[in-house]
Amino acid sequence: MSLRLLVTGATGQVGWQLHRTLAPLGEVIPSTRTEVDLADPEATAKLVRDLVPDAVVNAAAYTNVEKAESEPELAHAINADAPGRIAEVLARTGGLLIHYSTDYVFDGTKSGPYDESDPAGPLNVYGQTKLAGEQKIAASGCAHIILRTSWIYDTRGKNFLRTVLRLAREREELRMVGDQHGAPTWARAIAEATAQIVARCAQRRDRSSWGYGGIFHMTAAGQTTWASFAQQILEEYESLAAWPADTGEFGSPLTAKRVVRITSDLYKTAARRPHNSVLSNEKLQATFGLHLPDWRVLLRLALQDAVR
Ligand SMILES: NC(=O)c1ccc[n+]([C@@H]2O[C@H](COP(=O)([O-])OP(=O)(O)OC[C@H]3O[C@@H](n4cnc5c(N)ncnc54)[C@H](OP(=O)(O)O)[C@@H]3O)[C@@H](O)[C@H]2O)c1
Repeated sequence: MSLRLLVTGATGQVGWQLHRTLAPLGEVIPSTRTEVDLADPEATAKLVRDLVPDAVVNAAAYTNVEKAESEPELAHAINADAPGRIAEVLARTGGLLIHYSTDYVFDGTKSGPYDESDPAGPLNVYGQTKLAGEQKIAASGCAHIILRTSWIYDTRGKNFLRTVLRLAREREELRMVGDQHGAPTWARAIAEATAQIVARCAQRRDRSSWGYGGIFHMTAAGQTTWASFAQQILEEYESLAAWPADTGEFGSPLTAKRVVRITSDLYKTAARRPHNSVLSNEKLQATFGLHLPDWRVLLRLALQDAVR
């Protein structure tokens, strides 16, 4: 069956990759800020009403965790009101909503990985608005799958991987937070797993249901800290021995060789972040048979992809 799929946030890390991974499933309609501004939830609802997609994959979000502290209303409109309105329209048309949420819905006090039934308790505005988005979608009654993921990076866009490589060309030594634990996850792995979930839902679809629903955690396997992630980036980058000449930023040498661990209290930020936001992926595996590889494996694949 060929699906009509609306992807919001098509210029973002996950949205960009979705445009490619969803292509085999039917018609992909990529939407950017030019087509619709999610800060205007009514305009967003109108876009969905006009296009009548089989499914919306909402990869657009207000993702600047720091800035959200000073723009809570805008972040709420984009992360909660707009997804809520998309969900209300889909509840009427029978469409499916795939939506992304975050590990930052948790307060980080649990000692092990969080599962989907653990109570949320966001520490910052971004996490609060993403949690509110989850709640509005659930309340709408539309068929939905909410994928909570974490620490997203890619070889394009604004993210930790590219920041580390830039700083590592400018400095001798990097200082990174070593007391926050999570799972860095490559945007492409998220987009590929999402495409498999959409395909599975489409197979199960009948007049009244898409077969699956609810919240699922979806991150790379394993866990690390920002400091260890940065160290691994430096090592993986150096280990890619034969650089082709035309690899642009991914071909130039690094000056920094090591990462110094610091504690969160030495790195002052506007937004508080959880010390532990590792998510258990057991439900995703049990339901869809999906298991994302270890974060180190995905990091290597992402870097190899950038230089080959
Ligand atoms: N990044 C992370 O580490 C992380 C971690 C956990 C969960 N998530 C969630 O995963 C999802 C995908 O994140 P990502 O990292 O791919 O995000 P991203 O790279 O920051 O991209 C966000 C996308 O949303 C678009 N957008 C922002 N405000 C908009 C508005 N007012 N109207 C229309 N479009 C707007 C951006 O468009 P412009 O290019 O025009 O700005 C961009 O295309 C989001 O739901 C995010 O909350 C992210």
